[in-house]
Amino acid sequence: MSGIDQYLESQAARFEDELCQLLRIPSISTDAQHGDDLGRAADWVADQFRRLGLTTEVIPTAGNPLVLAQSPPVPGAPTALVYGHYDVQPPDPLDKWTTPPFEPARRDGNLYARGATDDKGQMFTHVKSAEAWLKVEGRLPINLKFLIEGEEEVGSTSLEKFIVEHADRLACDCVVISDGAQFGAGIPAITYGLRGIAYYELRLSGPNRDLHSGTFGGSVTNPATALARLLAAMIDEHGRIQIPGFYDDVVPLSPRERSEYAALPFDEQQYLRQIGVDGATGEEGYTLLERRWARPTFDVNGLWSGYQGEGAKTVLPATAGAKFSFRLVPNQDPAKITAALKSWLAQRCPPGIKTELIEFHGAPGVLIPLDSPYVAAAARAIQHAFGRPPVYTREGGSIPIVTTFHNRLKADTLLLGWGRDDDNAHSPNEKISLADFHHGIKASAKLWEELAKIKK
Ligand code: BES
Ligand code: MN
Ligand code: MN
Repeated sequence: MSGIDQYLESQAARFEDELCQLLRIPSISTDAQHGDDLGRAADWVADQFRRLGLTTEVIPTAGNPLVLAQSPPVPGAPTALVYGHYDVQPPDPLDKWTTPPFEPARRDGNLYARGATDDKGQMFTHVKSAEAWLKVEGRLPINLKFLIEGEEEVGSTSLEKFIVEHADRLACDCVVISDGAQFGAGIPAITYGLRGIAYYELRLSGPNRDLHSGTFGGSVTNPATALARLLAAMIDEHGRIQIPGFYDDVVPLSPRERSEYAALPFDEQQYLRQIGVDGATGEEGYTLLERRWARPTFDVNGLWSGYQGEGAKTVLPATAGAKFSFRLVPNQDPAKITAALKSWLAQRCPPGIKTELIEFHGAPGVLIPLDSPYVAAAARAIQHAFGRPPVYTREGGSIPIVTTFHNRLKADTLLLGWGRDDDNAHSPNEKISLADFHHGIKASAKLWEELAKIKK
């Protein structure tokens, strides 16, 4: 066993304890009340880098601070930029957690806490692999830059601006991100595609006040009913989105991808059982994996109107609202989708209803070429740590900043997710498998060695 792997084994328990310190900070980026906690999390991450002797800066922004750290220069060696995020999603519903979200708890080989897998635990694997090199070898074999942000879960606005203004400081040969999942338990993956997203809030207003539904019902449009009709009309019973032009720019799955996905050891029944549903749905003509990874979708994310209290109230509500989003695939342009959506809504809006559409973050999907020496290096590192080669997957989720890295730094991203689909990201009882955590650190340490072999 190499000195580095020995070091990792000997320090495993301390690595977990340190991660718990970060997990105790409720750095919820969508909630303005947690501003101080975001600052504390940034400082905690920066302190890790400073202790390793990296040149470290906590960079204030209009939003949450960025942490940028750089290892001592290794002339002639490639430079990898490690990206991750220290912000987390809100923990609610709190009553569904077995142990409190910001009191990390070890149970059955897992560590439970908000942020355990998304993304504090995964991001931290690259910090500890750098530590191992510096403690055992006294140096890293390549140049590492760490860029850890606190607004990923709310659209990365400040980071986007920083990259545009300071691309020179972030110059690199490849970007490394661990903020996703393996294909399945014990089946590591290199992810070569992410979906994009277009997210909206739609507000409908009808009469100038709530009305008695007996006195007025049947004479004017009910905003809640109108909203339900609009949302339901967005997608048909074959799973096809009905907005004209929506599919115009979609890149079709290649026959090769389709046969590769079909060959993956995917157990659909087990997938459905795990989330407690008795059947799958989606766009006709595509397999479940194809629909999750490579086809666009429509989802209602929030819905409100009328009386929500106990018992019945005969009311015709004055307003109704929904949050909804499309996951986009490569080549679909969020701005074009918005324009198409607006004209579709304008045509369908019934009499007596006014609509207001609010646009949140939009991001295109990405596809990353697999025929690079960086991908080959990552595959060898994964083989070393997980004991088997990776499969090549796409993911349905979005990491909007990957497109910015591509466009502004001209660097491709290695998406090396150490998590699992059932880690409960964004959900109660979020966890990371401790085995995955340590395998991730081991793979990361090997990755620096493998990347160092690439001639620039
Ligand atoms: N880590 C996820 C993205 C992800 C999920 C990648 C699953 C791969 C597999 C990230 O933190 C996230 O939640 N992203 C948001 C983006 C949104 C806020 C723009 C998402 O996908 O909803
Ligand atoms: Mn994430
Ligand atoms: Mn997330």
